[in-house]
Amino acid sequence: MTVITLDGTGLALEARPGESLTETFRRAGLMMRDGCLRGGCGMCRVRVVSGTITLSRTVCEQALPLADRDQGLTLACRAVPTSDVTVAIPPDGKLRCVTPLLTALARHQSSLIGDVMGQPVAIRSGPLPELVPA
Ligand code: FES
Repeated sequence: MTVITLDGTGLALEARPGESLTETFRRAGLMMRDGCLRGGCGMCRVRVVSGTITLSRTVCEQALPLADRDQGLTLACRAVPTSDVTVAIPPDGKLRCVTPLLTALARHQSSLIGDVMGQPVAIRSGPLPELVPA
């Protein structure tokens, strides 16, 4: 298992094998600015400060030009760590924790979430509360 450290935040996240940076962030209850999630828009750019990543699939040259790759930039939606990495999210990446929001929504709007998910849901408590089938 690899560790993703978010530069300047003190946060370290464990990545599952083959998981993109974006997938790890989301599993940890973190969201950052993104768009297509397919390597096409470039909105999820982050800088690899240390460590190595690979791109899980090809990405659009306009979303991540070679010159930018040479400067350590990558796309979080396609970048998969191949070692422990430290990444810096630019200020316009707007990294934020959404777990409290999701928990509040689940507590007060669980029937609405259940409607969207097609089944009743409940909250399983823990460091990162999870929605589970009721
Ligand atoms: S979200 Fe569009 S390239 Fe990552």
